[in-house]
Amino acid sequence: MKNVVIAVDGPAGAGKSTVAKIIAKKLNINYIDTGAMYRAITYKAIKENINIGDEKALIEIAKNTQIDFKENNIYLDGKIVNEEIRTPEVSNNVSKVAQIREIREIMVDLQRKMGQKYSVIMDGRDIGSYVFKNADFKFYLTAGVNERAIRRYKELKEKGYDVKLDDIIKDIEIRDEIDSKREFAPLIKADDAIEIDTSNKNIDEVVEEMMKYIN
Ligand code: C5P
Repeated sequence: MKNVVIAVDGPAGAGKSTVAKIIAKKLNINYIDTGAMYRAITYKAIKENINIGDEKALIEIAKNTQIDFKENNIYLDGKIVNEEIRTPEVSNNVSKVAQIREIREIMVDLQRKMGQKYSVIMDGRDIGSYVFKNADFKFYLTAGVNERAIRRYKELKEKGYDVKLDDIIKDIEIRDEIDSKREFAPLIKADDAIEIDTSNKNIDEVVEEMMKYIN
């Protein structure tokens, strides 16, 4: 049977990963968080004291990095880095790394290989518009910037980070801007994607709406 590919795109904090994980479980397919891949490269670069403006060095890092997903864990060179890649420092730098074309090409290649090997629900920015233009289902989740920032703020607070809501609003605005204005494979709604505004919906309602299309 042909593999199923479900693309879930949208800006930071729109709820993509939360609903994609639930749908992956319901359908018994793999969930791939493509943002985690760009975060992993960023985390490694920071750890190795690479200047985030040094494109050449960043591309070298991406070429020499092994990224794998197993049972909802992300492995960077064989080590689980689920938490390390979600720090505010990584969030503040990841969009600059993700705008580099050569790095995107390496990641997109890995993403396409995963979609060929097994059925996936993949979340990101360019999955329906670039990585899998022929995805079986495409969703584009949005929400107002304040709503999205409050969600991120609560998540980070729960994890014990001392963050300020204003800083998160700024981070999200800057990332949205870089992600949607970059030249290669920017954040954009694919013409044939189903758009869902999650601002006034809870998780179950969003999942239910998406499942209606999938079923
Ligand atoms: O999804 P998340 O917010 O963790 O993604 C982190 C960053 O990775 C995004 O802000 C964006 O710069 C980049 N990204 C991307 N393309 C994807 C997924 C994420 O450029 N498919």
